[in-house]
Amino acid sequence: MTEVRISLVGYGVVGHGVVEVLERKRQLMGEIGLDLTLVSVTDHTGTYLAPDGVVAKDILDHRTLEGVANSDMAAREVFGSIDCDLVVEVTPTNIVHGQPGLGHMVDALSMGKHVVTSNKGPLVVDYRRLKDLARKNDVALKFEATVGGTMPLISLIERTLVGNTILGIRGIFNGTCNYILTRMAEEKYPYNHALTEAQELGYAEADPSYDVEGVDTAGKVAILANSIFDMDVKYGDVEVTGITGITPESLILAHKRGYAVKLIGEVPALTVKPMLVPLGSPLAVGSTLNAAAIYTDLSGTITVTGLGAGRIETASAILSDIVSIYRGNHVDAQRS
Ligand code: HSE
Repeated sequence: MTEVRISLVGYGVVGHGVVEVLERKRQLMGEIGLDLTLVSVTDHTGTYLAPDGVVAKDILDHRTLEGVANSDMAAREVFGSIDCDLVVEVTPTNIVHGQPGLGHMVDALSMGKHVVTSNKGPLVVDYRRLKDLARKNDVALKFEATVGGTMPLISLIERTLVGNTILGIRGIFNGTCNYILTRMAEEKYPYNHALTEAQELGYAEADPSYDVEGVDTAGKVAILANSIFDMDVKYGDVEVTGITGITPESLILAHKRGYAVKLIGEVPALTVKPMLVPLGSPLAVGSTLNAAAIYTDLSGTITVTGLGAGRIETASAILSDIVSIYRGNHVDAQRS
């Protein structure tokens, strides 16, 4: 049995999901030879240290660690002072400066800890530095949850499609926009009403303009460009048009003519823009779903679809990344 001692940084929606999923899958992980022990949880209010393992029910009912934390150590001090092998970083995304996640990841990788994350900001702002740090310290940096949530994309390319040259990826990478576009076209919902519903579903970013103006999708395009296409792309290199200029009339007209309007991100073209997609096409998924068409030289086009966000779904992608590190399947996503 391999013991993996995990420090969790960030205790919002995804952090709670990670605590819950580690607890729910404890037995299954044991069956594949992994003893995943959560030894600390840190948020902006403090740290909960549990060297013998966090008991999920002791903290899951608390929205933050306020009143539960038994230490005021910040993440960096935690990594430096306790025995942990892997850091799960799930603080909120900031696509401009990447903080606080970027600092957490730099610290963890520099101290020789594997990092698994759902936080897009640091990967958009400083991907190359993080990847170099991981290489230098002989640890893994895994981020399946950053693009498409639980929809397998990066791991699918890394493992299953290994040997293929990836010619391009085109997809729907924002559930909030997809929900709004679907509701407006199919049920003639007003834009604001559809956005409010997407927010209630817990999909929208804290600032929903990140979703509807295409910023979130552009961040995901940059992550795919850097990790799959070995490019060195920042958010500003992506040409972005969001969905705010789309009228209900144009959506309804397109629908009548057999098309859906989708916010599509393309790599390596580095574009994000609303595009017409035939209604029968595998990319024409509705509601909050994400979808991606992967164009390859050996396997033709592979299309995947799945939930791009959600507490448990995102935690599922994080768990999958953790397992892949210890099952010896770690292959660099980057290919030439
Ligand atoms: N706001 C994002 C979405 C969350 O709507 O898809 C997942 O990155």
